[in-house]
Amino acid sequence: MPANRQWLLDNRPQGEAEASNFKLVTTQTPALADGQVLVRHHYLSLDPYMRGRMSDAKSYAQPQPLGEVMIGGTVGEVVESRHPKFAAGDKVVGMGGWQEFSVVDANQPGALRKVDTTHVPLSHYLGAVGMPGVTAWYGLVKIIEPKAGDTVTVSAAAGAVGSAYGALAKARGCRVVGIAGGKDKCDYVVKELGFDACIDYKLHKDAGSLSKALKEACPKGIDGHFENVGGMVLDAVLSRMNAHGRIAVCGMIAGYDGQPVPMTYPQLILTNRLKVQGFIVSEHMEVWPEALQELGALVGSGKLRPRESVAQGIEAAPEAFLGLLRGKNFGKQLVKLV
Ligand SMILES: NC(=O)c1ccc[n+]([C@@H]2O[C@H](COP(=O)([O-])OP(=O)(O)OC[C@H]3O[C@@H](n4cnc5c(N)ncnc54)[C@H](OP(=O)(O)O)[C@@H]3O)[C@@H](O)[C@H]2O)c1
Repeated sequence: MPANRQWLLDNRPQGEAEASNFKLVTTQTPALADGQVLVRHHYLSLDPYMRGRMSDAKSYAQPQPLGEVMIGGTVGEVVESRHPKFAAGDKVVGMGGWQEFSVVDANQPGALRKVDTTHVPLSHYLGAVGMPGVTAWYGLVKIIEPKAGDTVTVSAAAGAVGSAYGALAKARGCRVVGIAGGKDKCDYVVKELGFDACIDYKLHKDAGSLSKALKEACPKGIDGHFENVGGMVLDAVLSRMNAHGRIAVCGMIAGYDGQPVPMTYPQLILTNRLKVQGFIVSEHMEVWPEALQELGALVGSGKLRPRESVAQGIEAAPEAFLGLLRGKNFGKQLVKLV
């Protein structure tokens, strides 16, 4: 059986996460038991939620245990199988974690899923046609519930979730306005992703200034907003929401290191009779097949062209992850192993 390099969570961050929170080890992959499958990972997914799991603060999920392989989504190829439904060469998606190989109990429901790479590249099953894409779908379709002609907005618009959101909202006839950091990201959001406009929040020193830019980009106000960041961005959006608007609270990346993310005028929720709803995509497995079908069709037809930031080799995982938490990624952050 092959040697397997693995990243363990070695210690919990105090404030910002650091490379020294992780430890690289090499182990031997064990011989397979009945029902197990050996997967060689081609790509590891790096996602903001992993920062939450590194800490032991109360959250919706259990913390990542110290001394264990960092959790995470993976795509790869079956190398050896002792399960009747999987064969060597199958391309699969799973939760193999930050390591080169995983041994998966394929009898566990949802542990391993075969995927078709004829029209959708394997890596996209970790992004637009995977968990981040379904996240965008759930927040837009189930919480924002847009009608054609609505104006909808999203923060972290150039990222894995934000880019899928844009394509899904355009397909529903909405005016879609993104908020992202920097000119390059905003150009990509408009020119390649087909958003109607994108605002570079880094050009604005406070929520008042960002709110003015939103007024220009959203002349009819905002009917639905998908929040990934929190803080100044959410304050500015709240000031432009229309009566009975809907806000899907997906992420608060501005506060993932533990700092407060204040909301300046929560009374706007009342005066505008807003629906503000948080959600966790893994608690809504019932929508995944429908969402994945639509996302796969958007990617297969070229209507959604997701971008990827690809770090090379298992050694690169911690630095790439820290870069993602600081906005250095451009699109879905991956680590390529094969
Ligand atoms: N609720 C759920 O079930 C669920 C599932 C998946 C993801 N999420 C959340 O969705 C959001 C987007 O995830 P993603 O995978 O698509 O990530 P991503 O957008 O690909 O990457 C994160 C981006 O956040 C932006 N950002 C804005 N303010 C930031 C700040 N203060 N510090 C650091 N980054 C900042 C950066 O883009 P800019 O350069 O544009 O600022 C960065 O590139 C995250 O908040 C994540 O936790 C939630």
